[in-house]
Amino acid sequence: MNTVSNIIELRQQIRDWRKQGLKIAFVPTMGNLHAGHISLVEEAHKHADKIVASIFVNPMQFGANEDIGNYPRTMDDDKQKLTAANTDLLFTPTPEIIYPKGLDKQTYVEVPNVSDGYCGESRPGHFRGVSTVVCKLFNLVQPDVACFGLKDYQQVQVVQTMVDDLSLPIEIIPVATMREESGLAMSSRNNYLTAAEKETAANLSKALHWLADQLPINKDYNALTQTAIKSINASGMRTDYIHICHARTLNPATTNDKELVILAAAHCGKARLIDNIQVTL
Ligand code: PAF
Repeated sequence: MNTVSNIIELRQQIRDWRKQGLKIAFVPTMGNLHAGHISLVEEAHKHADKIVASIFVNPMQFGANEDIGNYPRTMDDDKQKLTAANTDLLFTPTPEIIYPKGLDKQTYVEVPNVSDGYCGESRPGHFRGVSTVVCKLFNLVQPDVACFGLKDYQQVQVVQTMVDDLSLPIEIIPVATMREESGLAMSSRNNYLTAAEKETAANLSKALHWLADQLPINKDYNALTQTAIKSINASGMRTDYIHICHARTLNPATTNDKELVILAAAHCGKARLIDNIQVTL
């Protein structure tokens, strides 16, 4: 695997592949890679000849109260994992390369509506940071397809909406969440959990499964949600939100909607964890 951190070398490699008529897939990440990320690379191989991954801890998507300095950085280990997964090129830009004028003077991309609630409400400015960096990375890598993990369900909808609204010629491929045996969704943030907290954290996906099983037989979405919140909190976590939503618009679901997603976030120890489950009625 070749690693480049500057835009000129990145563009040169992409141009060479384009001249050869090769199809390019892109897997953007913030590093600290786990099996979930590697499943994105494996999926990418099914859709393209060359795989480009990026590792960039994007300052624009962290809030003032979120410690970007503490975000786990494991570059050597990440490179080994990407090499083993047959990644062709790794792009590792610095913040100065991505935002040469600084964050305040940077043009940004804001996707309305799907960015607004849930994680958008708990983390103001987060999705603006995500859509801006993903748009910029798309323009640099110019992939045919890009793979995103469904654990970040709202992020996938934000990116898909941006691609649709701005007519970007990129196919977004959502990839199923990888889970521990306990059901806990794999996440870099699980590194903040102790062994005991990991057991507690598995109750988030258990509550989502319980809720998903109730949806075909109980239309009182509000009461169901309140029960799920109580069980998550009783297990030792603190629920941030849990909502039953329309799977594409992310608006609160009506009882006529058939394609649903239940979105949830909860605090466990030092970590804020997110998870979701899709339900077709
Ligand atoms: O999901 C992530 O790791 C990040 O939000 C992404 C898509 C790489 C943008 O920084």
